[in-house]
Amino acid sequence: MVKQEVEVIHLWSSPRSFSTSLMYAFAQRDDTEVLDEPLYANYLQVTGEQTPYREELLSKWESDGNKVIQEIIFAPGEKKYRFVKLNLEQRQMGANDFRWESGPKPFDGVWPFPSSMYNLLDQSLPLYNLLRCYIRGSSNCAQPELPVSTNEKLLLWVGDQIMPRESAKVSVFDSIVQGGDGVWEGLRIYNGKIFKLEEHLDRLFDSAKALAFSNVPTREQVKEAIFKTLIKNEMFNNVHVRLTLTRGKKVTSGMSPTFNQYGCTLIVLAEWKPPVYDNEKGIVLVTATTRRNSPNNLDSKIHHNNLLNNILAKIEGNNAHADDAIMLDKDGYVSETNATNIFLVKKGCVATPHSDYCLPGVTRATVIDLAVNENLVMVERRISLSEFHTADEVFTTGTMGELSPVSYS
Ligand SMILES: Cc1ncc(COP(=O)(O)O)c(C=O)c1O
Repeated sequence: MVKQEVEVIHLWSSPRSFSTSLMYAFAQRDDTEVLDEPLYANYLQVTGEQTPYREELLSKWESDGNKVIQEIIFAPGEKKYRFVKLNLEQRQMGANDFRWESGPKPFDGVWPFPSSMYNLLDQSLPLYNLLRCYIRGSSNCAQPELPVSTNEKLLLWVGDQIMPRESAKVSVFDSIVQGGDGVWEGLRIYNGKIFKLEEHLDRLFDSAKALAFSNVPTREQVKEAIFKTLIKNEMFNNVHVRLTLTRGKKVTSGMSPTFNQYGCTLIVLAEWKPPVYDNEKGIVLVTATTRRNSPNNLDSKIHHNNLLNNILAKIEGNNAHADDAIMLDKDGYVSETNATNIFLVKKGCVATPHSDYCLPGVTRATVIDLAVNENLVMVERRISLSEFHTADEVFTTGTMGELSPVSYS
């Protein structure tokens, strides 16, 4: 048999349950041999302690701990990796090489790392990080409270598979990280049906086309991902879906879409989420100084993830303790809020700004249709701020918050 080099993985850890679970995780691998507490035999020999499995253990290991260590480190075997688990007592009772003061050490963590073990590190780190969160008294992983606690356990679609909330991640090479280079839709589920799904998908695919995405999943593939995610989560009501399509992962960091050679990344993030505004009491708006993007620079008809324009306005809204902020176009006419379309009613006539500077919202289109069907006077036109200030009624529209009356603070 051809003997290959064995890489020994040394792991010092406490509490013991932590290293034991890691050891058993490694034991599942065909290429890894685990050695559980090789110095324990020495410890039992020296102390004479009577413990369960004492005889079994003594028969398995040489009584001379040092000899055991020599063998572990130097003996080549058939496996590629050898995982040696030592526990606290053994460190204290074992050879000098394995003795050290308790407490954290500056060299704890991943040391200058042999590249031959890169794949093993890549595979082990998620499990290590997960287990690290369960260290008693650890504040590293303290989680903030979620607005809706049932969203703690979600299944999300990323790429081409479903995964749990904490594992659902995109690569740092993804265009969405590099440049906010993605398109998105917000969907709402009512009684097991997705409201205006086809209209949302039309806008998603139009946005992707306007941004010249390539290797875009088909409409059927996107639908399948949405339905599978909703079914796996048993979500049929009171649910909002953030559907994102990024230009995908790049082969190297950089702006050019020529680096995007993996195809688009599809994300289906479904959450339990009641409408986000108080639609009984109404919402308070403030007018932001940040102007809404014009088609001269970034066309608001593309529903893209580069949301800084709206986020700056939202910050102004937050600073004024308002629910959202009205954004004006470059000439000072109202376009929309940072997150919704806006309507006014004056003397029975309904009006909303042209969609030159605002997103042509799906809810906006629905309200326009309803108004027309009700034979109301419905106009799309330039509307100034003072017309909103003097309107009989103002309301906003959007998938996330539905229809929200605007009230005076
Ligand atoms: C800036 C902006 N305006 C309006 C809307 C409302 O659009 P819809 O009714 O399609 O949800 C959204 C929703 O994403 C938005 O981001």
